[in-house]
Amino acid sequence: MNKYLFFLLVAVSSTSLLAADDEPQAIADMSALMTRIIQPTSDAVFYVSRFPPEDDAAWRELENKTLMLAEAANLLLIPGYKRLTEQWLQDTVLMRDASVRAWQAAKNQDLDALMELNNDLYTSCENCHTATR
Ligand code: HEC
Repeated sequence: MNKYLFFLLVAVSSTSLLAADDEPQAIADMSALMTRIIQPTSDAVFYVSRFPPEDDAAWRELENKTLMLAEAANLLLIPGYKRLTEQWLQDTVLMRDASVRAWQAAKNQDLDALMELNNDLYTSCENCHTATR
């Protein structure tokens, strides 16, 4: 390897804008993440056929909740929450994918799409709980 390229690579890889303390890290604990963020936002999806949004403001609220849910799936992958198993990663990705689809469906005010992805979302919760309990 060209020695200038080598030094450039070393310089780039050792330069991080974040100090170790500034890296993403869990603020609460798993129980709080589940009951305060994931449960209330996913309930909005699980009960969507019973309580369908009736006006633009309600759809907007569902849009906000599904975005929070999708971002919460990302939090399951940061230090303090994440667990280093294949199963954990698989369930987290399933939860994130289903939530992103829910967010898109909420933006499109598409009730059918929301009911269709319900099962995938539910499976992500159940699979991870079965594996971790
Ligand atoms: C990748 C793993 C994972 C996924 C996905 C996941 N959970 Fe959890 N969940 C956990 C773990 C681990 C616990 C146990 C937390 C504890 O008590 O320490 C838990 C606990 C809970 C609890 C009980 C918390 C308490 O203290 O009473 C609820 C409610 C919950 N999850 C809801 C959900 C819902 C709803 C979903 C899906 C939308 C979901 N979870 C998806 C890992 C996951």
